[in-house]
Amino acid sequence: MGFSTDAIHVGQEPDPLTGSIVAPIYQTSTYVIEQMGKSSGYDYARTNHPNRKALERTVAKLERGHAAYVFSSGMAAIDSVFRLLRPGDHMVLSQAVYGGVYRLSTQFLVQFGLEFSYVDTSKLDEVEAAVKPNTKMIYLETPTNPTMFVTDIAAVSAFAHEKKITVVVDNTFLSPYLQQPLALGADMVVHSMTKYLNGHSDCTGGAVIVNTQAHADAIYFLQRSVGAGLAPMDCFLVSRGIKTLAVRMDRHDSNGMAIAKFLEAHKKVKRTIYPGLSSHAQHELAKRQQRGFGGMISFDLGSVEAATTLLNHVKLCSLAESLGGVETLISHPPSMTHASVPADVRERIGITPGLVRLSVGIEDVEDLIADLDQALAKI
Ligand SMILES: Cc1ncc(COP(=O)(O)O)c(C=O)c1O
Repeated sequence: MGFSTDAIHVGQEPDPLTGSIVAPIYQTSTYVIEQMGKSSGYDYARTNHPNRKALERTVAKLERGHAAYVFSSGMAAIDSVFRLLRPGDHMVLSQAVYGGVYRLSTQFLVQFGLEFSYVDTSKLDEVEAAVKPNTKMIYLETPTNPTMFVTDIAAVSAFAHEKKITVVVDNTFLSPYLQQPLALGADMVVHSMTKYLNGHSDCTGGAVIVNTQAHADAIYFLQRSVGAGLAPMDCFLVSRGIKTLAVRMDRHDSNGMAIAKFLEAHKKVKRTIYPGLSSHAQHELAKRQQRGFGGMISFDLGSVEAATTLLNHVKLCSLAESLGGVETLISHPPSMTHASVPADVRERIGITPGLVRLSVGIEDVEDLIADLDQALAKI
């Protein structure tokens, strides 16, 4: 079946008991065992529940994976993947990863004997140079948040597999509709489902999608042992959101392209970073490995003062963290999502003081452009 059909029907079957077209929310912590040794397959909601199982089937199908596990946030999902490492292991990561990933690794996991190297993964030679005999995992964000560097997933995976290194891709910015990392050779995919998969900014959630039974067993062990699996109501909300993923992503993509072109042509904007523009350094790669370019755009206004003026004058775009919802959000990565990245590191990797990030929603694009235009005029 096609992607949209899968998104609406896999894991989204009508309730067999009543025929309800939308499966009910199983808001319960425990399940009565009919007789000793005879259970429904569910015993306790931390371990599993029907809404979680349904969503995991949908997400695994859309990413073309062997299995998926859903968590209470993107960070909980990413943490479970990082816990596959053991003291003494080394990981290579994209240098401009989401700030929370940087914080988790540099401020917490290093205390458990793990080593992390941050490199520009859009350059294969930098990845190769960073790999050591104890490297067990390469963690890619592509495009990176918020610098929009694109990494060649197939090339990194081919290199990594020769060395028996696991490749993990954070696919949050594009969703499985626009990019399928497992098909390109990656071993695992993670998502902040808070973003495009949910799409309506009404819950947090995360997912890990795996390609082997060994990884499935390891992630499920962590999910049920640690207890950060996604709750029934939140699973319901993400399942509801996923039904419209394809049509939403098409609109995010077309609005994103129109706004990127508007920004690139605007004299107050110093630089527009969007993989869909031919001026983007990895435009050809993005065209090859992605089905579209999505709704994430970063642009540099040259100074924190100019960025502040814009952010204080937008009316339709909301100044807020997060991304991937139907409504357009605008943010200042250096002081918001990436505040936990030290200033010198931010400057080195391109998170400049005047950088602004847009998560373009699915409103009428003329209204969004008019709003940005009037706010840019205030600079
Ligand atoms: C690319 C990316 N990955 C992971 C995360 C973390 O997800 P969550 O906020 O759901 O924990 C975020 C959050 O903004 C993100 O942008």
